[in-house]
Amino acid sequence: MAVTIKSHKEIELMRKAGEILAATHEELKKAIHPGISTLDIDKLGERIIRAHGCLPSFKNYNGYPASICISVNDEVVHGIPSRHRILKEGDIVSLDAGVIYKGYHSDAARTWAVGKVSPEAQKLMDVTRQSFFEGIRFAKAGNHLNDISAAIQSFAESFGYGVVRDLVGHGIGTHLHEDPEVPNFAMKRKGILLRPGMTLAVEPMINMGGSDVLWMDDDWTVVTVDHSLSSHYENTILITEGEPEILSLSAADRESGA
Ligand code: MF3
Ligand code: CO
Repeated sequence: MAVTIKSHKEIELMRKAGEILAATHEELKKAIHPGISTLDIDKLGERIIRAHGCLPSFKNYNGYPASICISVNDEVVHGIPSRHRILKEGDIVSLDAGVIYKGYHSDAARTWAVGKVSPEAQKLMDVTRQSFFEGIRFAKAGNHLNDISAAIQSFAESFGYGVVRDLVGHGIGTHLHEDPEVPNFAMKRKGILLRPGMTLAVEPMINMGGSDVLWMDDDWTVVTVDHSLSSHYENTILITEGEPEILSLSAADRESGA
């Protein structure tokens, strides 16, 4: 499938989808505390998304059984919510959510601390978030896709972290996953030329240890092979002539800054 350029009308819908998704993440953040189950977080997330007139895009996507992907500690992404999985003090938890508003998708992930976490875990989360912002400094018309990918990798690796290779970001729009793939590591090719109106989900997945991951028996949950902690941060962005517009960022998030 070719990479699509969104019209002004489509961009408006994606802005709205992004706004609702950002608000969903803000609400979910408040619910994170020791003792809550990942199923309760999922239920709350689905309720918030539907209350805003959106559909949860992950629900039943390729058979995924929930609305929010919830991945704890050494789980990288795509953890399945469960009433038996209870968050405890010191955990880090990644929440990945997608919404559909009038046919248009937005996709974003955050990793939060549960209570007080180790300085090492906090640093991993901070660097992962920052690697997204380092990458999107290059997300503007005239640059190539690989400029984003290489910047994410070099920033994360400068801290000795492992950059996950088996999963990548993606274009997004009327489908959750559109072309192009957006790797978080340098490719040998420069990739597509970025043009205004392209919308991308940029989503670094960064491990405290090695970059290798594997799939659990449920065929969804991705974990680090060395069981080191993993962090995920994702936003849906719009390429413009100038600075990229981050569609899935809340006002509070914008202020806390890159
Ligand atoms: N943000 C993830 C992605 O881009 C989540 C989708 S997985 C799903 O692939 F199957 F749960 F939808
Ligand atoms: Co995504």
